[in-house]
Amino acid sequence: MVEEKNKIIIDTDPGHDDAMALLMLFAVPQIEILAITTVAGNSTIENTTRNAKYILNLAKKEHIPLYAGASKPIERDLIKANVHGISGLDGSGAESLPLEPTIDEASDKIIEIVKQDPKEITLLTLGPLTNIAKAFLKDPSLPKMIKQVIIMGGAITVPGNKNRVAEFNFFVDPEAAKIIFDSEVEKVLIPLDACNDIILPENAIREIGQSGLIGKTLSKMLIPYIENLKKFDGIAGALMYDPLAAYYLINPDAFQLEEMDIKIETNGEYTFGMSVAERRIAASKNPNVKVAVKIDGQKFIEDFINLIFRLNKR
Ligand code: RIB
Ligand code: CA
Repeated sequence: MVEEKNKIIIDTDPGHDDAMALLMLFAVPQIEILAITTVAGNSTIENTTRNAKYILNLAKKEHIPLYAGASKPIERDLIKANVHGISGLDGSGAESLPLEPTIDEASDKIIEIVKQDPKEITLLTLGPLTNIAKAFLKDPSLPKMIKQVIIMGGAITVPGNKNRVAEFNFFVDPEAAKIIFDSEVEKVLIPLDACNDIILPENAIREIGQSGLIGKTLSKMLIPYIENLKKFDGIAGALMYDPLAAYYLINPDAFQLEEMDIKIETNGEYTFGMSVAERRIAASKNPNVKVAVKIDGQKFIEDFINLIFRLNKR
C-alpha cells in the first residue's frame, strides 16, 4: 500500500463498478479526493450525477465536491451501457434521490483545480474521456500541468466489450480518447486485458454483505449487476474494471506495466473506439502510455474486501 499522500480528481459514470471504486478509495486516508466529476456513459448525466451523490451520502463523504460534466460525447450521440440498468445503479437506493438538472461544469473545474497545484494532481478516469478532452481543448496548457492520468479503458489483445474491438469507455467517445492519447499528458492505462479474469466471487460478496450498512448496500446492488453481466455478457460474477483502475493508486506494485505506442481509431465503421497498439517487433514506436498487462488479482480482492470492511468501521 502507498504511504505518501496523493491528490486526485475522479471522473466517473456510476455505474456499479464505479461505485465500488469510489467506496474503496474512500477507505484510504493517503488518497485526498479533491473533487469527483461525473460524465454520461453507463447512464445519462442526470443519473450518473445522482448516483455519485448517493454513493457520497452512503459513505458520509458529502464534503467532497461533486461537479456534473458532459451529457454526451464531444461529437457522437450517447450510447449507454446495459449492465447497470435504467438508473445506472440498479439495486442501490439511488433511485430514492431526486433526479436534478445538471450544468456541464466538470471541464472548467478540472482546469481550475489542476492549475492551483501544477504537477501535483492525478486524474483517475472511470468513464468516457469527454470531460478531460473538453478541458484539454479549452486549455491546451493543461496536459503538462497534470501529474498523471490513470485511465480505465481500452482493449489491446482481447476483444472489445461494446463492439468487436473497442472497450466501452473508448467506444462511447473515441474522439475524446484520441485527444487524450495524442496529448503529452503522462498516462497509465488499465485495459480489459488485465481486468477480464479478476472477478469478485459470490462468497466475497456475501462476506462484504456482513460488514455493516455500506457492505450490505453494496452486496444488494451487486445482485442486478451480476444478473445483467450474465444476461448481456455471459459473465459469472462481478467484473471489477473501475476498482482495478483505482487500485493502481493504492498498490502500484501489484501492476506489471509495459510502455506502448497506442492510437485511438475514430473512423472505422466496425473499429471505432479501438485502442490500436503498435505491436510489430520491427516497427519504430513512439511510446505514449504505460499499459497494465497483468495485475495481482488475489491481492486486489483481499485488499478490496479489507478496505470495504475498514470503511464500515469509520
Ligand atoms: O468497459 C468498462 C468500463 O465501462 C467501466 O468503467 C464501466 O463502468 C463502464 O464505464
Ligand atoms: Ca465506469
